[in-house]
Amino acid sequence: MTRVFSGVKPTGHLTLGNYLGAMRRWAAVDQHEADALFCIVDLHALTVEHDPARVRRLSRQAATLLLASGLDPELCTVFVQSHVDEHTRLSYLLECVATDGEMRRMIQYKEKAPRERARGGSVRLSLLTYPALMAADILAYGADEVPVGDDQTQHVELTRDLAVRFNQRYGHTFTVPKATPPTVGARVMNLQDPTSKMGKSDDAGPGIVYLLDEPDVVRKKVMRAVTDSGRDVVHDREERPGVANLLEILAACTGGDPKELAGSYASYGALKKDTADAVVEVLRPLRERHQALCADPGYVDGVLRDGAERARAMARPTVDAAYRAIGLLPAVSGADPAPNAAR
Ligand code: TYM
Repeated sequence: MTRVFSGVKPTGHLTLGNYLGAMRRWAAVDQHEADALFCIVDLHALTVEHDPARVRRLSRQAATLLLASGLDPELCTVFVQSHVDEHTRLSYLLECVATDGEMRRMIQYKEKAPRERARGGSVRLSLLTYPALMAADILAYGADEVPVGDDQTQHVELTRDLAVRFNQRYGHTFTVPKATPPTVGARVMNLQDPTSKMGKSDDAGPGIVYLLDEPDVVRKKVMRAVTDSGRDVVHDREERPGVANLLEILAACTGGDPKELAGSYASYGALKKDTADAVVEVLRPLRERHQALCADPGYVDGVLRDGAERARAMARPTVDAAYRAIGLLPAVSGADPAPNAAR
């Protein structure tokens, strides 16, 4: 059975981009068709300036939202990254396989490092080594597929390179995974600046639809989306990024095709209204389930505890194999038989 791994980082409130680019398919497809793990990757939230209490709060909220989106712990494994030590154990080995040049070439590092400097802070070393930890997240579980939005495909490409290199140097240890972005909704753009991604870590703004926004807030944000001075509705990402973004959001919410949908609108106003309605309808069940789950925090804790236990059992053999393959002497406990001196 195909193994799927994906994750979400608790650096801000989850957005429509997270949902359409990744989470929606996890619940609708991946958990049914694959042996799937979904992770709140909290260690990744420490790579930039952070408030400890906020990271804890957002981690719990992300877990609750994943379950509210329809993830069923009977069908898949939902857990928190820091509850499973195998991620950091493996990350170090992958840092010993990766080069600093590879890390510095990552688009996210190039974008985020200057932002951190501009905020008057220094750049944490973990922001540079982040892709090694992300590769460890994926490789520890032998994932075949990684359902992510477009912005993460470069990290998955690097993960592939590291897996291949490790296997060539030290013997076959890792499955080589591939990114599986959705056909529509892989890059939802900011409604006020449709040339940049709708990102949860950005400052709160009218261009970002959060999954827990009230319906009237969602409507206002979509109705005020920046379009352009043209009148006809066409799908053209280069020339008409604002309209293209609305068409793609509408298509992702309704299951249509953005180019075909363009033909059925004569004005931007009608397109915005239908897009707003579609987003509100897609988010409605999620908000309702989220509210119900918030009333039962013991349930969420139980899911995360069981999930971590399952994840640990899945990751440990692969990470142990990587430790042996790279040349580390296995630790011997009282119960272990004598180590094989020949290795
Ligand atoms: P994160 O938390 O930024 O985003 C979670 C998922 O949402 C997708 N996404 C989007 N898709 C479409 N349009 C957008 N505007 C948009 N914004 C976010 C992301 O592509 C992602 O799939 N590094 C990862 C987390 C991570 C991870 C992993 C993912 C850590 N380890 C291992 C997969 C496998 C991240 O920052 O995602």
